[in-house]
Amino acid sequence: MNIIVARPELFGLEACRLFLMLAGAFRAPVVGLPTGKTPVPLYETLRERSRLGEISLARFVAPFAIDEYGVGDALHPCANRAFFARYWEAIPNVRPVRQFDPSAAGAAEEARRFAGELDAAGGLDLAVLGIGMNGHLAFNEPGSERTSKARVVELAAESREAAAGCFGDEAPAWGLTLGLKELLGAKRVLLLANGAAKAPIVARALDADVGPECPASFLQEHGDVTVLLDSEAGALLEGPR
Ligand code: PGA
Repeated sequence: MNIIVARPELFGLEACRLFLMLAGAFRAPVVGLPTGKTPVPLYETLRERSRLGEISLARFVAPFAIDEYGVGDALHPCANRAFFARYWEAIPNVRPVRQFDPSAAGAAEEARRFAGELDAAGGLDLAVLGIGMNGHLAFNEPGSERTSKARVVELAAESREAAAGCFGDEAPAWGLTLGLKELLGAKRVLLLANGAAKAPIVARALDADVGPECPASFLQEHGDVTVLLDSEAGALLEGPR
């Protein structure tokens, strides 16, 4: 595992550099993309550098969302679909993100459909991931097995709390997520975390025992993981970095 600690103000630039470097091994990378606060500096830097003509994401043919909230209206302004419209699709020359449709008639069938679409694309080359305050990856909440597939999940209290920041009292109780099988099946993983609040869970995930009570700990067993932390999120890691 390659752990990189950046100064907070350089987090976006460094995330952009690593994203391009890790995807650089693939001609037409299939990438898994997260939502949340953490990746915003990455998307903003990708947009800015693309606008300036310094980089191009045109060869990123198959971006896949890694999860979605269980909302009846797929166009809900707090749904991940709205996030990607704002942060990914604002980048010049990108393909639209392929996404779960939470308004589909059967959610379990929708999860299978989406997993099939990813499978047909050859699986993920690069999974970009954040980490939840409870150690989740996408919506693989504590208790998720490493073999778990794309599915409908009940959101943990921490995830509902985070969702309430946008949804208010209407925070969804469920979500759709790629499973740990699809995420850990990515050829490469870029895990991002910033801010002091994430320091304990980052240390738990990277330095402590591997197991379903902290799904992000399974990354310790993946052979090609790069972790980008800002100095605050990395403050509790053991040993020299
Ligand atoms: P955050 O969410 O980036 O908003 O902290 C991360 C996550 O829940 O995976």
